[in-house]
Parts: sequence; structure tokens; C-alpha cells
Amino acid sequence: MDLFDMMAREGHEQVMFFRDKAKKLKAIIALHDTTLGPALGGTRMFPYKTEEEAILDALRLSKGMTLKSGACGNHFGGGKGIIWGDPDRDKDEGLFRAYGRFIEGLNGRFITGTDVGTYPADFVHCLPETQYVVGLPSEYGGSGDTSVLTAYGVFLGILACVEEVFGRRDLQGMSVAVQGLGKVGKKLCVHLKEAGARLIVADIKDSRAREVSSELGATLVSPSEILEVEADIFSPNAMGGILNEETIPKLNCRIVAGAANNQLANPYDAIRLFQRGILYAPDYIVNAGGVIGVADELEGYNPERARRKVENIPLLLKKVFRISREEGIDTEKAAGRMVEARLREVLQLKGIYVPER
Ligand code: NAI
Repeated sequence: MDLFDMMAREGHEQVMFFRDKAKKLKAIIALHDTTLGPALGGTRMFPYKTEEEAILDALRLSKGMTLKSGACGNHFGGGKGIIWGDPDRDKDEGLFRAYGRFIEGLNGRFITGTDVGTYPADFVHCLPETQYVVGLPSEYGGSGDTSVLTAYGVFLGILACVEEVFGRRDLQGMSVAVQGLGKVGKKLCVHLKEAGARLIVADIKDSRAREVSSELGATLVSPSEILEVEADIFSPNAMGGILNEETIPKLNCRIVAGAANNQLANPYDAIRLFQRGILYAPDYIVNAGGVIGVADELEGYNPERARRKVENIPLLLKKVFRISREEGIDTEKAAGRMVEARLREVLQLKGIYVPER
């Protein structure tokens, strides 16, 4: 693996490796781009099989955070932390305090919080060591469960997609196939049901699938069926890589909009969707509610203000759809152009000399 080549290819600024002798902490922090401000991104804890796999994940996820904050108007760059370990076995106070000390050592260049395998309570352990953590429980002044704002943003994003494709502003009677009924998926289903949508749902956890479908009166299908089921909208809220060469031809919907990160297996899959006439809401825009909430914490969390910022997601999507229509390009490419334009503008601003106070 040639790390410098990989960093150069995707535009990464910095990759750091941390090891604590006592706690056996092994962590990687990748900072992708800090044009907009300090890098903001969660810390994932996962038992990667190889070091290479962990590094690749840090690189991929940190770039995603640049795009996410860049698109949603946050004044933060993109970064991501990786703790190489088993979240069910290797966690304790010492591990997160050690991690907190390393983060503090970066002096604010990186601010972190929860991701897959980490929870708000883990970052409470970091608090004696660092001020650069967010996504804390509400009793610590944090925004609490990020999935609340994420689900709200996805719901609003779906409304924007429906307006673009069907020219209507409501979901009454429209069918939505929801894949994954976890923290985000279930809350999204509640919003959709309240708006009068017809729900078709699936989750690999059978008990969860049954519980949610009976509570919300949704049609339950198997995880293998959910992708192919006929519906106006397909909403992926489980794992990444779900939109690929194999799955895209099977889709039976007009819109794809959901919270899952990294839905496209590769950028060409956005073209496949475009060619099939399926409107794809770029994941990092439609699922930005969570990062909007944690970024708001850094100004002293104000739930009303955070909610209003999330309500901007439909406007961002409409802009992406307009670029896509006018330039005849897929929505992923259009979103990328929108973010690049913002980064360019901010870089140019830095050419204006402001004397230090
Ligand atoms: P979660 O872990 O609470 O829920 C995921 C659910 O998907 C679980 O119930 C799981 O059993 C199910 N699942 C996994 N593979 C499946 C499959 N093949 N078919 C059907 N169901 C499957 O996670 P959460 O927090 O709800 O996040 C969902 C997605 O949204 C993830 O990709 C996450 O990275 C992304 N996301 C979450 C944010 C948040 O605020 N929680 C913010 C932005 C993105």
C-alpha cells in the first residue's frame, strides 16, 4: 500500500497513527480537508481484519465528511477517527481517555464524536482529557441521539425528491420501501407514516422487523426482497455499497433517498441510476442532519436552531437536481460540483488579508 499516493489521489492532508502502551489503543485519524475549518467527523470502532482495511476506511470516511460538511453549510472540514478494536470487548474508560489525550494533542484540528461502534457515553470518558468531542448526551450539553435529526432530514429530503419527480408536495398514498429499521430507519418510518405514506419494510433482525411493522402497520418483506419490491421510493437505511452493478438493474422505484452512508459502491453507479431515470439523493446531503446537530453543539446546542438548519436540506437537494438537469450529469457529480465551488470560494476569501488582533 502506497499511502502517500492514496492521499494524493483523494486529496487528504494528514493521516496519523496513535498507540497507547498501557491500554493497547490502536487508532488512526485521517484529516481530509480543512479549508472550511477544523476537521469534524465521528470515530468508528471496528475489529478490522487488517491494518490496510482500517486505513482505507479512515481515508474513505474522512473524505465523505468533507463533502458532508461542505454541502450542508457547516464551517468544518472533513476528518474521521478509527479505533481498531472490538466494541463489544475492548472498550473501557482508560481506552477512551487515552484516545481523548491524543485528540487534545491535535489542539482542535480534529473534533470527534460517535460513529459505528461508539456511543455518546464513550465520549463522556474522553471529557477529562479533551474539549474536542461532540455528540455528547444532553445532560452534558450535547445534542444527544443524532438519529433524530438524521431521520428528520431524510424525511424532508424525500419530500424534495417527490416534488422533483412527481411534481407534488405530499406523500399521501405514496409507497416507500425502507431497508433497515434501526435508529434512523424506524424514526423515518414514523415521519413517513404521519405523512400518509404506505410503508414496506425489512430488517435483517427479524424481531426488530416484526416489531416495527406491526407498530406502524407496514408491509413486512424479507431483506432480499426489499430492493426489488415495487415502490415509489426506495430508502436505504442500513449498510453502505447497496447501490451497485448487481442491485441497480433490480430496483423497482423512481427515487432512492436514505440515510445509509456510502450507498454507491463506486461513482459509476450514480450514472447507472441516472441512465435508468431513477432520482438519487446523494447520501451525504440527505443524511447530514446528524452532523448539522453535532456542529451546532460547538456553538452551545440549540435544538430549534439545529432543526432549522436541517430544514435547509431540501433546498440543497433542489440545487443539486437543478445542476443535474441543466448540465445533464448525475446527481452525485452535481453535488460534488456544488461542494467544490464552495471550497474554492472559501479558499479565495483567505486571500483577503485580515490583520491579527
Ligand atoms: P443502526 O445500526 O441503528 O440500524 C441499522 C439497521 O439496519 C439495523 O437494525 C440492522 O439490523 C439493519 N440492517 C443491516 N443490514 C441490513 C440489510 N442487509 N437489510 C436490512 N436491514 C439491515 O444504524 P443507524 O444509526 O440507524 O444508521 C443507519 C445508516 O445510516 C448507517 O449506514 C449509518 O452509517 C447512516 N447514518 C446514520 C446517522 C445517525 O445519525 N445515526 C447519520 C448519518 C448516516
